[in-house]
Amino acid sequence: MKSDKLGQRQIWIVDFGSQYTQLITRKSRELGYSGEIITLKECRELFESGKTPKALVLSGGPQSVFDDETDYSFIFDQKELPILGICYGMQLLGKYFGGEVEKGTIGEYGHAEIQFDSAFENCPEKVNVWMSHSDHVSKVPADFKTVIESHNGLVAGIQHKERKILGLQFHPEVDHSDHGKDILNHFFKNIASLKGDWTASEMLKEAMELVSSVGDKKVLCAFSGGVDSLVAATLAHKVLGENLYCFFIDNGLLRPQDMGHIKMLQEKTPLNIEIVDVKDFFLGKLKGLDEPEDKRKMIGRTFIEVFEQKVHEYENNHGIKFDYLLQGTLYPDVIESFSPHAADGKSVTIKSHHNVGGLPERMKLELLEPLRYLFKDEVRKLGEELSLDYEWVHRHPFPGPGIGIRVLGELKPESILKVQESDQILFEELHSQGLYQSTWQALTVLLPVKTVGVKGDKRAYEEVICLRMVNSSDGMTATWSDMPHEFLSKVSSRITNEVKGVTRVVYDITSKPPGTIEWE
Ligand code: XMP
Repeated sequence: MKSDKLGQRQIWIVDFGSQYTQLITRKSRELGYSGEIITLKECRELFESGKTPKALVLSGGPQSVFDDETDYSFIFDQKELPILGICYGMQLLGKYFGGEVEKGTIGEYGHAEIQFDSAFENCPEKVNVWMSHSDHVSKVPADFKTVIESHNGLVAGIQHKERKILGLQFHPEVDHSDHGKDILNHFFKNIASLKGDWTASEMLKEAMELVSSVGDKKVLCAFSGGVDSLVAATLAHKVLGENLYCFFIDNGLLRPQDMGHIKMLQEKTPLNIEIVDVKDFFLGKLKGLDEPEDKRKMIGRTFIEVFEQKVHEYENNHGIKFDYLLQGTLYPDVIESFSPHAADGKSVTIKSHHNVGGLPERMKLELLEPLRYLFKDEVRKLGEELSLDYEWVHRHPFPGPGIGIRVLGELKPESILKVQESDQILFEELHSQGLYQSTWQALTVLLPVKTVGVKGDKRAYEEVICLRMVNSSDGMTATWSDMPHEFLSKVSSRITNEVKGVTRVVYDITSKPPGTIEWE
């Protein structure tokens, strides 16, 4: 159910491991072209099965073409295929088509001014871009011409004289590159002749088509009430009607605002939502665990256990058999949990996102993930397209493992309470001061360190709450939000006064990367 869409988009982006690969997809979609990231192995298999994209992008990557013995003729022999090689991709072009690549001395990125020798639509003659200073094409292949040069005389862009192939030494997909989107658009529109007609309603149509393929089978939905599961469930409900059963798991790791939200959705939407109270079950399972990955994995496993119990209960007590599990998994969850390179053995797992782990075989439930290829802001657009309330669709994200990853170390009821109470204060203030939408995500974390303070003339030796607020568009990268000092001050004083066992409040000013948004 999840891979049947592979290879159906206009553009395939072959991932060679660059940290910017997903940005190529994003920028392409913003320009109205649908793109997807695939591994080199998948690319080969898709070509072998007779599929081809309208354009192929070869991403950058950390390795050197001098160490790459792969035979790329299965790609480069496709004479009609428009190809864009970015950085590592450009060096592959240089090497394959008989040019020369010179080894770089520094493997770093930096700003560089480039000059266009051929006109690129909407680009001035000179622009600043984010350039790799590692390997570069030193001799342009005979069938190619230089179309862009860097200020220090390096070849920054090459184009095939007859075929639709462009190579760029810099990264047009990153925000540090001025006119980056224009440069990408020039390739897609003027070289590859693609139509930029990818829209929210197109996305909605595709997602609903995927859901309709389940026919009249019964679907169980892991429903958190967050933007993703709400949009997934709403669009699925339009197709499946009463065959969709939503379960909201109260695992004891929720904030007061989450319970309020779910009760309101029960009232105001046509969704059939059952609240499953398994607080004690979860806390029992998490007892004694203090390592973030152990906690994440246990929370994920326990969710699955609860769903298994529900499946049995419905089958045995109500004669209802579920065949599918609907989840609001998004593209960044998929990319971050296992890079598309995993199949080729080059991935790095930063965190195990519990909602992408898959289901045990014995459950015999197939995964239904209609949002699996979408970014958060695209899901919000779908929500608006589905006429969901603005506040519901623009709700801050809340992670599946909840407060479980916001109490650092072992989870204890009194620690969970500290995060719940401080979170409540933070959000009351965000709302009352009209600041909710000025940050993308806000949270509080309990730090398991004790510090000395004074409370009511007495010495206090208590714990620390850290406030974290970030701006982001999809959670893949983030910067800390510069919130008004009076607001921070009010939140701090309320938390230290109202939350028992907290003497100190700090504000996290770390960007992502290097810090992730959540602390665990
Ligand atoms: P990180 O901490 O990885 O978070 O920078 C990026 C975004 O993802 C959320 N997050 C999760 N969401 N399951 C989820 O559904 C998870 O396991 C998970 N871990 C992090 C996080 O809140 C932020 O919005």
